[in-house]
Amino acid sequence: MDYQKVLNNIIELVKEVGAFQLEAKKEQNFTVSTKGDSIDFVTDIDKKSEEMIISRIKELYPDHSVLGEETGMTDMESDYKWVIDPIDGTTNFVHNFPLHCISIGLKYKEVAVIGVVDIPTINMRFTTVRGDGAYLNGEPIKVSKVEFLATSVIATGFPYFRKENNVNLPYFNKIVSNIAGIRRTGSAAIDLCFVSAGMLDGYWEFALNEWDICAGLLLVEEAGGKITETNQDGYPLLICGNHKIHDELVENIVV
Ligand code: IPD
Ligand code: CA
Ligand code: CA
Repeated sequence: MDYQKVLNNIIELVKEVGAFQLEAKKEQNFTVSTKGDSIDFVTDIDKKSEEMIISRIKELYPDHSVLGEETGMTDMESDYKWVIDPIDGTTNFVHNFPLHCISIGLKYKEVAVIGVVDIPTINMRFTTVRGDGAYLNGEPIKVSKVEFLATSVIATGFPYFRKENNVNLPYFNKIVSNIAGIRRTGSAAIDLCFVSAGMLDGYWEFALNEWDICAGLLLVEEAGGKITETNQDGYPLLICGNHKIHDELVENIVV
């Protein structure tokens, strides 16, 4: 497969889906409901966006498997698997906070090979093909050069089930007073993009899903970042950043 050509097709697709999402927001023309937990929002725009994405992928690559947050897995027994989050940052979308994105990744034999994260509200499109670097609006990007956790800006997030057991709070309390600044964008994919572009020095979060991070992790990798994926306190834990900050975060978080 010509991955650059595939990437161009996905760029065209996210432009269309992004325009659709902005229009829906402008008109405030969407319905909101919640998933199992009452703070896990989903809108009809999440669902329609995913339909638009999947129908185009099925048209272009009918043999490929597809995993979408809203529709689950369509297994075609293919080596290729698309991993889609139609809106990452739905809480932001619903509240008119401008950080939400479309995240689309392609895996070959479970290894990410293409990643596209489009933030339509602020015209930022992050793209990558494995081995070819990471890009923001077509310009190459790299992770930051900040050397010490004490002078770093770090992002994190909190799972929706936090009411019963906020797995991240003890770690948040530990890190927050040892860094220059903490940020919470409300979108894991955007956090990963901002790490890849050196706008954040590091990021950690528990209990993320494959669709939150598939495209973003490839961006971090291709931008020269370092990633640890492990399990702790009964949940998946992701830590990433430039090499130095990643290592310091791991020292402070992984037990
Ligand atoms: C959520 C966002 C958020 C993270 C949550 C995710 P959604 O995805 O990425 O930053 O903290 O764990 O579930 O629900 O907006 O697609
Ligand atoms: Ca998500
Ligand atoms: Ca989502």
